[in-house]
Amino acid sequence: MPNHEIRVIGDPVLRTPATDVTDVDGALVHLCEEMFETMYEAPGIGLAAPQVGVQKRFFVYDHGEAAGVILNPRIVESDGEWVFEEGCLSVPGLSWEVVRPKTVHLVGVDLDGNELSIEADELEARLFQHELDHLDGVLLVDHLDDDQRREARRALNEMTMARAGLSGGSLPPVPLSGGPDGRSPGRGLRLP
Ligand code: NI
Repeated sequence: MPNHEIRVIGDPVLRTPATDVTDVDGALVHLCEEMFETMYEAPGIGLAAPQVGVQKRFFVYDHGEAAGVILNPRIVESDGEWVFEEGCLSVPGLSWEVVRPKTVHLVGVDLDGNELSIEADELEARLFQHELDHLDGVLLVDHLDDDQRREARRALNEMTMARAGLSGGSLPPVPLSGGPDGRSPGRGLRLP
């Protein structure tokens, strides 16, 4: 079974809100199996459909204590604050300390059509919030403070230039939302 290529920041599919899953068929079940393989190989603890180019609202996860597939997830309640050094398979090699709610109540549906209702805390809550963001076209870099955004722009410029060098310069500009185009030098830029 071929593993899927994980889309990285700059790919428009990561910025496109996904649509609800309306039908669970064999193809979707098979795709989820492939997504688990891709996630384990990466390795990561969560992978959302847009990260493999599929604009549907679901993700797979396995954080060691629990694993599963959640379709059409929604966070219905969140509480507290928790700081965690957060990374993303679509922003490879980078991570930042980000504050988000400590607990979330997530609802959704599994592949068998069972209603899910999960009270998640700390790592699991962070994972759910992160994957849900992917379904809304939101990326980790959108949660950074000003200093972190400056650091992110430098790192992403370097990453983009390195990748452009390998692929003939056909990659899109550095993709921090709202920033200047990626052809600008990576230093001294002021982000809006
Ligand atoms: Ni991610």
